[in-house]
Amino acid sequence: ITIYVPQDAVALGLGANRVARAIFNGAEQRGLDVEIVRTGTRGMLWLEPMVEVATVEGRIAYGPVTPADVEGLLNAGLHEGGEHPLRLGKPEEIPFLKRQHRITFHRCGVVDPVSVEDYRAHGGYRGLEAALKMEAKDVVAQVKDSGLRGRGGAGFPAGIKWNTVMLAESEQKYVICNADEGDSGTFADRIMMEGDPFNLIEGMTIAAVATGATRGYIYCRSEYPQAFRTMRDAIANGVKAGVLGENIMGSGKTFHLEVRLGAGAYICGEETSLLESLEGRRGIVRAKPPIPALKGFVGKPTLVNNVMTFTAVPWIMEHGAKAYADFGMGRSLGTLPIQLAGNIKQGGLIEYAFGITIREVIEDFGGGTLSGRPVRAVQVGGPLGAYFPDSLLDTPLDYEKMAEAKGLVGHGGIVVFDDTVDMAKQARFAFEFCAAESCGKCTPCRIGATRGVETMDKVIAGIRSEANVELVKDLCEVMTDGSLCAMGGLTPMPVMSAINHFPEDFTGPGQQSF
Ligand code: NAI
Ligand code: SF4
Repeated sequence: ITIYVPQDAVALGLGANRVARAIFNGAEQRGLDVEIVRTGTRGMLWLEPMVEVATVEGRIAYGPVTPADVEGLLNAGLHEGGEHPLRLGKPEEIPFLKRQHRITFHRCGVVDPVSVEDYRAHGGYRGLEAALKMEAKDVVAQVKDSGLRGRGGAGFPAGIKWNTVMLAESEQKYVICNADEGDSGTFADRIMMEGDPFNLIEGMTIAAVATGATRGYIYCRSEYPQAFRTMRDAIANGVKAGVLGENIMGSGKTFHLEVRLGAGAYICGEETSLLESLEGRRGIVRAKPPIPALKGFVGKPTLVNNVMTFTAVPWIMEHGAKAYADFGMGRSLGTLPIQLAGNIKQGGLIEYAFGITIREVIEDFGGGTLSGRPVRAVQVGGPLGAYFPDSLLDTPLDYEKMAEAKGLVGHGGIVVFDDTVDMAKQARFAFEFCAAESCGKCTPCRIGATRGVETMDKVIAGIRSEANVELVKDLCEVMTDGSLCAMGGLTPMPVMSAINHFPEDFTGPGQQSF
């Protein structure tokens, strides 16, 4: 009997280890021969810990399971898929999962994350096998033709970046994965690293083969210890199995990969500051040019992509660029891993073709707010993304359409607020976040963010609110135009969207009656 218990950070936080132990002990007492496999999550976070059991009709899920439920579940025949109020049926039939376009995440929550055999049994390494039979330029052409754009937030065409690194001449090149997932409300990189690390390893290996790099690093944020451990164990198993290191899969190619832990700074998610940190220095943004593709890690050509960009590649190489480009709309092709969080009934990971609207995500997948109160504001794209009011919720998730609506897709995070939110306080928070996380290199961001907090405090206290809102607008203009990177340059986006869409919250005290 095989029982699957997730061990991603969310499930662990909700007692998954105790659940696994209780199942093991309960099964032993009953004389049942049970093997417990620890998996990642399928991304339905409100159902975690979600336990699955292999039966003749496929896997059957139960959730959310607490250690106290285990006795009753075993009495009800959990090991045979027996009836119980927590029984959810086949996980892939749960509407939240069923209506997704699971391409990149199809193995998450299904496989044993650190097992190469399990990865291969679920279609893994077919992309690399295909890439190893091709010329480097044809691999890059596939990535280009797929329309894949950088999923870290900027949406830069991945194929163009790969091409720049491929053409750069150097005796040493690097492939670096930005896994410093710092945006509030985002967790797609974490879920992937904890649930299907070989997908990232395979994507990075394809990138190495295509660009001529022989060394790679995954820069994982320090707040993700479980992702770090899983990546480290997967890499070690990959080396043993001959899919990493020297002579990958007998091809004669070399790719040495290591995972490194960040030091807890949001700005280290900015690629040049990440490189500084990886080189052992304080994470301060470097001026561009030169771009890392030409002069990156230790001054050598370096391909820096996000976890979600690399993990889209194995599927593209296996199924072809066209199959990937068939998903999506306009110039936003393929699927977007959307992370739904905040005040929401059903939060979690939704992989869906670009073009789905924000409202569809919130209503059809999220089931509305957890509080049951009306949605008032939705922040899309992390702490530097815009707050949208109800009138903009029909905007499709598409890089260009979001930009037209003065917002951004970012890394695909969506955070929902109900009608008790005070948008003046949210605007203040944007400045406060920037003041805390600024690397300090340039004045508009370093000083501007602090002045922004002070000025918003006056607005909130009702001290010459109107004049101070004008001052905030001026400040936002300076920060947008004068900051060196997206941190200072985009902080005005949440602030200005709050002012423009929710002006009634910026008139001083008493603006909220809750
Ligand atoms: P960017 O537009 O400066 O650069 C995008 C990428 O394209 C970079 O890797 C750059 O080196 C590369 N590039 C530009 N021209 C190139 C060329 N000719 N050849 C090859 N490569 C080239 O954007 P940046 O500053 O890297 O990212 C900003 C975005 O990051 C924001 O839009 C925001 O959404 C996102 N972000 C994501 C976070 C997360 O947690 N994932 C956190 C904070 C911001
Ligand atoms: Fe550093 Fe802020 Fe300037 Fe970016 S905008 S370089 S974070 S001071």
